[in-house]
Amino acid sequence: MKKFLLVPSILSADFANLGLEITRVLLAGYDLIHFDVMDNHYVPNLSMSPIILDSIIKYGIKPSYIDVHLMVNPAEKLIDIFAKKRVNCINFHPETTSNISKSLSLIKSYNCKAGLVINPNDSIDFLYNFINKLDVIVIMLVNPGFSNQKLIPNTIKKIIKIKKIIIESGCNVSIEVDGGITIDNINKIAKSGADIFVIGSTIFNSKNYLKTIKKIRNKLINI
Ligand code: DX5
Ligand code: ZN
Repeated sequence: MKKFLLVPSILSADFANLGLEITRVLLAGYDLIHFDVMDNHYVPNLSMSPIILDSIIKYGIKPSYIDVHLMVNPAEKLIDIFAKKRVNCINFHPETTSNISKSLSLIKSYNCKAGLVINPNDSIDFLYNFINKLDVIVIMLVNPGFSNQKLIPNTIKKIIKIKKIIIESGCNVSIEVDGGITIDNINKIAKSGADIFVIGSTIFNSKNYLKTIKKIRNKLINI
């Protein structure tokens, strides 16, 4: 059976109890933690900074559990800061650095995984130039900036197209999907080719994280 990764987005967590919230989802069996960094410039919202990551690490969560999604412009300085913390993965939007290749190499020089994030209206042809440097392609299923939005239906076609590009390239690149994922639509998204699922409100708005992961995993059987 294919191993899908389930990654709670803590943008939807209770920020007054962040350490506890992360511990609870990891104990329930979720694989990584998605850490959204927003600057109120690239996206119209402000969220977490490296200071919050430091607190989480001090609380006892290993950086190797943290999947960083940078929604900041320019991104270079923050890429450097998060890479030095040796998080699991750093994902950035291609238009937010002046030299994509250089940013990807910097991330990988710290043994972090590197990913590019594609917005719903972004074209995808440029991916051919970078595919051999990528560990992950993150496909946004909503416009970035807020949790609890509805998935934009034509993003599903994008997953299928990007999966084709990856297979043709022969490179080992995972597809991560972010935004609007629910228990009702996750099966269809997985069948389109996604490997890693970032899920915010569906998890954190539920009362019991263990029951919710069971419901989600049930939808991913036999794919
Ligand atoms: C949106 C963020 C997402 C968001 C997902 O800009 O990048 O990670 O928190 O939340 P849900 O699953 O509620 O759409
Ligand atoms: Zn995100």
